[in-house]
Amino acid sequence: MATSVNAEALNESPISNSVAQHPSQSKQTIDPYNVSGEVGEDGVVKAIDYNKLVDEFGTKTIDKELLDRFERVTGKKPHRFLRRGIVFSHRDFELILDRYERGEPFFLYTGRGPSSDSVHIGHTIPFEFTKWLQETFDCPLVIMMTDDEKYLFSEKRTIEEVTSYCHSNAADIISVGFDPNKTFIFSDFDFIGGALYRNIVRLSKHITLNQARSCFGFNESTNIGRVHFGAVQGATSWASSFPHIFGTDEKKTTAIPALIPCAIDQDPYFRLCRDVSARIKYAKPSLIHAKFLDALQGPGTKMSASIDESAIFMKDTPKQIKNKINKYAFSGGKVSAEEHREQGGNTEVDVSYQYLRFFLEDDDELERIRVAYEKGELLTGDLKAMCIKELQAYVAAFQERRAKVTDETIALFMEARPLKWAGNPRAPIVVPQVVSGDSGAAAGGEAGAGGDGKLTKNQLKKLEKEKAIAEKKAQKAKEKEAQQVAAASKDA
Ligand code: TRP
Repeated sequence: MATSVNAEALNESPISNSVAQHPSQSKQTIDPYNVSGEVGEDGVVKAIDYNKLVDEFGTKTIDKELLDRFERVTGKKPHRFLRRGIVFSHRDFELILDRYERGEPFFLYTGRGPSSDSVHIGHTIPFEFTKWLQETFDCPLVIMMTDDEKYLFSEKRTIEEVTSYCHSNAADIISVGFDPNKTFIFSDFDFIGGALYRNIVRLSKHITLNQARSCFGFNESTNIGRVHFGAVQGATSWASSFPHIFGTDEKKTTAIPALIPCAIDQDPYFRLCRDVSARIKYAKPSLIHAKFLDALQGPGTKMSASIDESAIFMKDTPKQIKNKINKYAFSGGKVSAEEHREQGGNTEVDVSYQYLRFFLEDDDELERIRVAYEKGELLTGDLKAMCIKELQAYVAAFQERRAKVTDETIALFMEARPLKWAGNPRAPIVVPQVVSGDSGAAAGGEAGAGGDGKLTKNQLKKLEKEKAIAEKKAQKAKEKEAQQVAAASKDA
C-alpha cells in the first residue's frame, strides 16, 4: 500500500493541532493525524507538494478533460475550487458522473471531527464545496460528526467536551447553508447502532492489524479504539448504513456509492474501505480531494483551532479580521515599497493572495490582481485590504445565518428521517426514496425504481419515447442548420 506515513511522526504523542508538529522532520507528512510540509535544511517549512501526494496515494489529478465532462453532464460551470485546482485530486469521480448522467442514485458523505468550539475559514472550505455539490447533483448528503474519534485521538479531551463541540459544530455546519430536506447530520456517539454498526463490524472484520498499522502508522501502545475507528469512518460510505434514507433492501443499497468530498489527509481511511468494498462486492466510494488553506503564517502550515493567530475564525469581528490579516498574513511582497515596485511580489507564497484564490469568485478580477501584484503595481497593503474586505463579507454572511440556527434546527438535521431529493432533471430514472412514515420499510420507495439502476417496463417505454422525440428534434435542427449554411455560402 502506498503510504506517506512517517512512523516517527505517528508515535503516540498526544495528537494536537499545532501548526507544524514535527519541527525536526525533513519529509512532508500528510495523514489523518498529521499535516505538515517538508522542513528544509534552513528549518523553514516548505509548501505541501500536492503532486507528490497524488503519486504516493495513487489518486488521479482532476484535469481539464474531467472538468469539461463535468460541465457537459451537469450543465454547470465548475466551482472556483475546481477551476483553480484547490479541489485537485480524485478517485473514480468519473463513475459518479456516469451515474448522474443515467439518473442512478448516489449520495454525498463528508464529516467533521468536533475538536473545538472555534471553527475557522479552513474548516468551512470542504463544507462550502459539499453544499455546492449537493445543489449541483440534487442528492442526499450525510454528515458524520466524529465525536468518538476526537475523544480517542486526544489525551486530554473528555467525552463531555467533544459532545458539546459536536452540538456547536453542527450549528456551524448548518450555517454554511445546507438543505434540511436533503441533509442528515449525526453524532457517532448518538447514532451508531443498527445498520451502521453492522456495516462497521463487516468492515472491521476485513481489516487486519497489519493493514491498519501500515496505513495509519499505529504501534504497540496505540489504544485499540483508534485502531477500530477506521472502520467507523469507512462504513459510513456505504448507503446500506442508512435504511431511513435508502431503504432496507441491501441488494439495492449496497450498489449505491458515496461521493466523498474531503481534504486529502482523510484519504487513508477510504483507501482501506475501498479495498474491502471491492472484496465484499459493495459499491466503492468515490473521492474528491481538497488542498488545505494555509495558516496566516504561510505555505506549509495549516490553520489551527487552538492557535488564534494562525486563523480567521467564523466568530471573528470585522476588526479582528482586519488586524489579523494586517499583522500576521505572510506577505510575498518586498521589504520596501520601492523594491516592490521594481521587482514585484510573489503570489505563490502570499497569504492574502492565496485567500483571495479561495474566496474571490470573479476569475478575471483575480487574474488582474495577480498580474498587478507580480508586476509591483499593487502593493502588499492594497492586496491585504482586498483580502480583508472579502473575508469580512464571507464571515458576516455566515454569522447572519448562524444567528438563525436554533436547537430545534439542529434537532431537525440530526433526526433519522427520510430525505427528499430529485437527482438529475435530465435523466428519466426515478431515484429510490423512503416515503415519510415508512422509514426503512419499503426499500427504494417506488416499486422497481432506481436502486440498482434497473428500469421498469413502463420506464423503459417512456425512455425510448423520449429518446425518439429528442432524436427527431436533433435531426430537424441539423437539417435547418445545413440549409442555412447552404444559403449563406450561396450569398457569399
Ligand atoms: N476524520 C474527520 C475529521 O477529523 C471527520 C470525518 C469523518 C470526515 N468522516 C469524514 C471528513 C468524511 C471528510 C469526509 O475532521
